[in-house]
Amino acid sequence: MKIAVLPGDGIGTEIVAEAVKVLDTLDLKFEMETALVGGAAYEAHGHPLPESTLKLAMAADAVLFGAVGDWKYDKLDRPLRPEQAILGLRKHMGLFANFRPAICYPELVGASSLKPEVISGLDILIIRELTGDIYFGQPRGRRTAVDGHFPGAEEAFDTMRYSKPEIERIAHVAFQAARKRNKKVTSVDKANVLETFQFWKDVVTEVHAQYPDVELEHMYVDNAAMQLVRAPKKFDVVVTGNMFGDILSDEASMLTGSIGMLPSASLNTKSQGLYEPSHGSAPDIAGQGIANPLATILSAAMMLRFSLNQPEAAARIESAVGSVLASGLRTADIWSPGTTKVSTRDMGDAVVAAITKTIKG
Ligand code: IPM
Ligand code: MG
Repeated sequence: MKIAVLPGDGIGTEIVAEAVKVLDTLDLKFEMETALVGGAAYEAHGHPLPESTLKLAMAADAVLFGAVGDWKYDKLDRPLRPEQAILGLRKHMGLFANFRPAICYPELVGASSLKPEVISGLDILIIRELTGDIYFGQPRGRRTAVDGHFPGAEEAFDTMRYSKPEIERIAHVAFQAARKRNKKVTSVDKANVLETFQFWKDVVTEVHAQYPDVELEHMYVDNAAMQLVRAPKKFDVVVTGNMFGDILSDEASMLTGSIGMLPSASLNTKSQGLYEPSHGSAPDIAGQGIANPLATILSAAMMLRFSLNQPEAAARIESAVGSVLASGLRTADIWSPGTTKVSTRDMGDAVVAAITKTIKG
């Protein structure tokens, strides 16, 4: 089981160290190799995704990724910015299916800004298409407008597009995931305005014919944004495009109490995957030892389940996280009066201790 470990920037190094510690606790044989990515790689090699890092990732069964980015790189040419590393990995590895589960742990009901009755017991799965849409559509760029409201003015443009096979394969992923859950898929689109998303809706409906046991509902993205905070438990699996999925998954993270709790998995057709917390590099709190490592630790659990075929080890990590939260330990982002505030490292140690206990017990 080969794992490429790419901590990246900001809090990335701190949280990935804790996830690696947790993996080392399991009695499994991993070959882990670490490489630079993002701003750290730019500093060392002049590129956010050096050839050597990409090669390591492509040859691995799974990539454990931290986070990339820092405001100090905002002025660099776009191809050199840290974000290009994660976009490049998604593209080159063909990681088209992004799973972002949002689960509200009972102990964290109070950490959300929403009312307890709205979120308690929440367990939804956002499936975001990750290699298409306006993120990768060509052409894009800047030019002088020849038409529109201001002909002759400088303008910028991007291209939103989806091909039929791209929509079909992510729809299959969503229906199959729903079959293992509560058998409901909400497909989020903007079919009332955008050609791309009328097509999306048509294709998802067509694929649905193969899954008569799964309920399909269509929802416009603006309404979905509202329903996610109004009645999130009405959702089971949400499937949507790259751009809408980016936005809705950040929104959904707040239903769980903190974005520091949200893991993610990005898979290709060979079940090779990249696993990362849904949050960013948080340069404002980097180096202080206060970041929440749980999203990364839970991402490592997803890695064991989806790419390394170790579902029992995954479950052991997940239940260890549950028991650590039950014991009252909290990083600053999920702390509330009556609980114990701990550092990034203490949180990792507590998960390790909980796993060791179950191995011995
Ligand atoms: C995410 C992030 C990325 C995205 C950025 C860092 C490019 O926001 O994974 O959600 O927009 O996909
Ligand atoms: Mg995002």
